[in-house]
Amino acid sequence: QELQMNLEQIVKGGYEHFMLKEIHEQPDAIKDTYRGRLNAKEGLIRMAGIDDNIEKFLNANRIVIIACGTSWHAGLVAEYIFEDLVRIPVEVEYASEFRYRNPVITENDVVIAISQSGETADTLAAIKLAKSKGAFVFGVCNVVGSTIARETHAGAYTHAGPEIGVASTKAFTTQITVLMLIALKLAKEKGSISKSSFHHHLQELELIPGKVKKALKQDEHIKKIAEIYKDAKNCLYLGRGYNFPVALEGALKLKEISYIHAEGYPAAEMKHGPIALIDEHMPVFVIATKKGHYEKVVSNIEEIKARKGKIIGIVTEGDEAVKGLADHVIEVPETLESLSPLLTTIPLQLLSYHIAVLLNRNVDQPRNLAKSVTVE
Ligand code: AGP
Repeated sequence: QELQMNLEQIVKGGYEHFMLKEIHEQPDAIKDTYRGRLNAKEGLIRMAGIDDNIEKFLNANRIVIIACGTSWHAGLVAEYIFEDLVRIPVEVEYASEFRYRNPVITENDVVIAISQSGETADTLAAIKLAKSKGAFVFGVCNVVGSTIARETHAGAYTHAGPEIGVASTKAFTTQITVLMLIALKLAKEKGSISKSSFHHHLQELELIPGKVKKALKQDEHIKKIAEIYKDAKNCLYLGRGYNFPVALEGALKLKEISYIHAEGYPAAEMKHGPIALIDEHMPVFVIATKKGHYEKVVSNIEEIKARKGKIIGIVTEGDEAVKGLADHVIEVPETLESLSPLLTTIPLQLLSYHIAVLLNRNVDQPRNLAKSVTVE
């Protein structure tokens, strides 16, 4: 028994839970994802799966991304990245919906399937359907040799290392990293990105691990915020643009491991319904980083404040405007808007983690959930 306990401690690397370990592994995991692929100095991105199939991507009518859960959220971030940088239309679909409707897919479509485990039944079935219609299917998986990695025509691994905690953390940020690399490579090839913007992206990407490390240093501060809001019955998460999917991901993390009801929304949608929920009992987590509709998000925050909602802002270092309005702010370093999800998601992961621990939840194995959903 004692030996078993010690072994578990060793595997957890001194952390109390796998989830916390995996959250803290993100600077290295992101680095491992671009290591050997990205050469910022020479302005090169090497990815065999893309190099070998570059024409398929460049000639595609559109890209259809299929995934479930957190991987679907990474797909939504990728939609913003691809449309912005590569100028190819992108659709993001829940694999479970895609497979059961009669999707219009042809040989001119490229399908990207995203899956940490590479074993998700719905994603696998969606891949088979897309293949049967002649589409080229590219996999973004973490688990090497997994079924999805084998069933796809080509792919790119995330290299995040094993993710044990049921709540996905480092898989999400490394999926976004891989998808960013792919988009940059295609954009360069297509000529849809300027030379200077391409280089700027590469340089900023290389700074991300250090910035994630800095974001992780807010841990104690985040723990205090978790103590204040741990008994909330409902929470709202808001973000716009690139950070709208981060709001969805923040809400999913909280739901999964703390069992607190949470909803993620694009901040501008608030006025179309969710605003009715806001009163002094509603914590609202708002991603309000400097780049990306900042003024608009600030005015959303004013609307929440007018209705006495509790505001927790995820802001850029040195922010003053949101600090003046919010009940709490959590700072993240500045970066390009397109890379900001890699930073804004960190405090939301930590917050969910601390709330779950404070509520005595089974963080690594939450009730009713499995690490990979291999059933329909
Ligand atoms: C994330 O925290 C979840 N546990 C879950 O939504 C997960 O992302 C989903 O089941 C997809 O898994 P996959 O990436 O292994 O395909």
